[in-house]
Amino acid sequence: MILVCGLSAVAEDGTLPPYKDASLPVETRVEDLLSRMTLQEKIAQLNQYSLGSNDNVNNNGEQVKVLPPEIGSLLYTADDAVSRNAMQKRAMEETRLGIPILFGYDTVHGYRTIYPIPLAQGASWNPELAGEACRVAGAESYYAGIDWTFSPMVDVARDPRWGRVAEGYGEDPYLTSVFGAAAVRAYQGDDLSEPGNIAACLKHFVGYGASEAGRDYVYSEISRQSLWSTYLPPFEAGVKAGAATLMSSFNDISGIPGSANRYTMTEVLKRMWRHDGFVVADWHAVRQLVNQGMAPDDATAVEYAINAGLDMDMTDNLYMPHLEALVKSGRVSVERIDDAVRRILRVKFRLGLFEHPYTDIKPENERILLPESLDVAQRLAEETFVLLKNDAEVLPLKPGQKVALIGPMAKSRKDLLGSWHGRGREEDVVSIFDGLSEIVQELTYAFGCGFEGEDRSGFAEAVKAASEADVVVLCLGERYSWSGENASRSTIALPRIQEELLMAVRKAGKPVVVLLSNGRPIDLSRISPAADAVLEIWQPGVMAGPAVASVLTGKTNPSGRLNVTFPYTTGQIPIYYCQRNPAREGSQGRYQDIPSTPMYEFGYGLSYTSYEYGPLSVSSDTFTVNDTVTATVTVTNTGDMDGKETVQWYICDPYSTITRPVKELKHFEKKMIPAGESRTFEFEIDPMRDLSYVDWKGDRILEPGDYYIIVKGRKVRLTLE
Ligand code: NOJ
Repeated sequence: MILVCGLSAVAEDGTLPPYKDASLPVETRVEDLLSRMTLQEKIAQLNQYSLGSNDNVNNNGEQVKVLPPEIGSLLYTADDAVSRNAMQKRAMEETRLGIPILFGYDTVHGYRTIYPIPLAQGASWNPELAGEACRVAGAESYYAGIDWTFSPMVDVARDPRWGRVAEGYGEDPYLTSVFGAAAVRAYQGDDLSEPGNIAACLKHFVGYGASEAGRDYVYSEISRQSLWSTYLPPFEAGVKAGAATLMSSFNDISGIPGSANRYTMTEVLKRMWRHDGFVVADWHAVRQLVNQGMAPDDATAVEYAINAGLDMDMTDNLYMPHLEALVKSGRVSVERIDDAVRRILRVKFRLGLFEHPYTDIKPENERILLPESLDVAQRLAEETFVLLKNDAEVLPLKPGQKVALIGPMAKSRKDLLGSWHGRGREEDVVSIFDGLSEIVQELTYAFGCGFEGEDRSGFAEAVKAASEADVVVLCLGERYSWSGENASRSTIALPRIQEELLMAVRKAGKPVVVLLSNGRPIDLSRISPAADAVLEIWQPGVMAGPAVASVLTGKTNPSGRLNVTFPYTTGQIPIYYCQRNPAREGSQGRYQDIPSTPMYEFGYGLSYTSYEYGPLSVSSDTFTVNDTVTATVTVTNTGDMDGKETVQWYICDPYSTITRPVKELKHFEKKMIPAGESRTFEFEIDPMRDLSYVDWKGDRILEPGDYYIIVKGRKVRLTLE
């Protein structure tokens, strides 16, 4: 059904032009529309405007009137679709061709139903469940008028000082690839034009996670080899999953900023990977090419960016004023403009925007914070919690125990939302105190101290509460604003006052459970030895309280595993599990003053039950490049509580022309294993996919020789003949 016509779209004889005909293939429609567009109309499509920081829907009216309706996209910050529809009406009815606007927004870990930050999601090792949460986020965004989210962020990050480590899935390229691809599929569904589906955006292309010393917006040094082996794989996986768009990065890649990098955006993304959607700049990234010392002026910045393959300019409004002159002077070709426009139109057609440019207006109670959405948020939060320590089985809490809940995070709500919390609101969050009050009968509370500062006046009350209780739950951590964009920290230790509160409280002689909420790995070198149990809950979102209560009381068995290494102290950074072999056996990077091993390593996490791994077997220990080999291990739950176990499959290539990491994650699977029962886990090894490596040109290489398959300390050798 054709619902909408542009001003001059209908021919004199009343027939519709092909681009308005939904029955035609997208490519036919794109070419038809492109052939009708003037250069100015094309250039307008390459711009994303913003309503600025004005997020009050009542104030949007005037701004909507002044925005040029021919623009390609709008960064949309209202709470509902009313102003979207008003703006879209102008695009559809007041422009010559009636090209709908694409409305984008940062729905990162939820729109209004905020669920755990991406770093936490990775720790669940449950990409299907994380995908369910993305579907909720996509639908909430869609009914608020959003077609396109700037998510997932698939930047591999190995410096926890960098605040944006919270926004990605951790340190490992494979785990990040799996979660990124799951997010893309969940946001976009099988058909982008179905209501509730929105376009995804893989960001930040590429290497932003390599920011030097964890500082934001700074130079990054990335060799072609690490570009290919560490930073590009999650983007390739996201492109294969169908991601409609990518966002360019602020950082440099060996001296060429991501937003002017022809190699990454054109050679790799568009030619090698054949991506046919578009690349949007990060915020003001085109103008920043001047700051970065590449372009001497704005016009040259535009020239470099568009010629490198950056299709849409985000908010710095430089493409609009400069592109026409650049085309006329021959510095930018019409072919490049056409290519960029084609890519943007393709996404708009695939989203069905020409047929359904307006969003159905639904009341809030039908589109946000729905009971089933909150259920997903809680289940996901529970699976992200990582039990780091549990001496003498302090956890789970025992029925009838008197619990003293202490610390700055205990009653906080906003901090549990984490950074980039969309339209999430403090009042939507169930605090840890409120969650525990529902379940624990004898609960006392003491504030203790703030997140930082010198005020120790609450210590005495905290110690008193601790001495009158059977067990202490001490809620420490980071404020929501301590991680995220431009929120780096020079040390990953918590402020001293929080550690001092722990030391004071433990003097009461009661078991202390430290509950940690943070957006990055924390230095636990003093906290962990002083605590009887440590539960990492990250920034869990609106259902934090019920999820914490469920795990602390043993209703849910914790099943999270670290997807990022917890360094012993800041001085060990960067430290990650898949480092290459040291030159001297057994003394990899020894320090004189601290251990050389991390506090908690990648993949680590305890449970309330115990698992026993059987022998690791393989279907054949020699193979050729065309064979597949199946590796199998059986895991038994030998404790008395049901639990979910994640089997992590690593490979090791001990000798190779380009040296490889000591081990690399290649597959994982999480299964529920009832108490006393066993489950068999398999890894179907495809040699080219799982044992090969890429060189600095992106060529895949598989060398004959020995490989090891590693599972939980078990190792089997395979030989490629
Ligand atoms: C800048 C951030 O780097 C990016 O991640 C975000 O999507 C844009 N701003 C838009 O808000």
